[in-house]
Amino acid sequence: MSEDTFSKLAHRYDDFVGSFDYEKIRKYLPLVPEEPILDLGGGTGRVGIYFVEEANGCILLDLSFKMLNEARKRSQKFMLVQGLSQTLPFREQSLKQIFVNDSLHHIRDQIGTIRDCYTILAPEGKIIIREFNRKYFWNLFLILFEKIVRFKSKFLSPEELTTMCEEQNLTISIYKPSKGTYIAICERKN
Ligand SMILES: C[S@@+](CC[C@H](N)C(=O)[O-])C[C@H]1O[C@@H](n2cnc3c(N)ncnc32)[C@H](O)[C@@H]1O
Repeated sequence: MSEDTFSKLAHRYDDFVGSFDYEKIRKYLPLVPEEPILDLGGGTGRVGIYFVEEANGCILLDLSFKMLNEARKRSQKFMLVQGLSQTLPFREQSLKQIFVNDSLHHIRDQIGTIRDCYTILAPEGKIIIREFNRKYFWNLFLILFEKIVRFKSKFLSPEELTTMCEEQNLTISIYKPSKGTYIAICERKN
């Protein structure tokens, strides 16, 4: 992944990826309406827009200024932060909910990102990660496509993400809202 690629795509990103079926995943998300939510790699706010109503504010963090610019056009209510997922500019144990949709496989430093999420996660907080399962046959085409456009993506299977999270002192539960995708709910180990 390079910032350039998403920045170049930013103004057409939403048309390119299409709309998001939030209702399909809503029941898997343990949202706390009184708390703000951090949408990590939140891009144009395509998904984050739902949290504007369902949480106490939505912070969109992304490394691409142009993606965030598109998010600003979508809603004035987003709190926008340009930054890197592996060096998060938030206080330790300050956030109760972190959401990562379709971004982890684009992030170069996945372990550093999980580690930093752990650092800023409040006690009893949750990191919710939605990803494509690289072991699902039809996702091979997505993986191939992202290779061709040189995204340098690194897709993880649920088992690989589980190992990565457990090594960072997180417990993890996996849900499968569809055959090709999974949702991981991660919490601090006691
Ligand atoms: C495929 S888009 C997903 C955007 C949004 N989550 C969605 O579902 O529409 C991936 C996003 O991750 C961002 N990204 C990639 N690496 C990042 C990093 N290390 N830190 C922050 N954002 C990153 C990209 O700029 C891009 O906006």
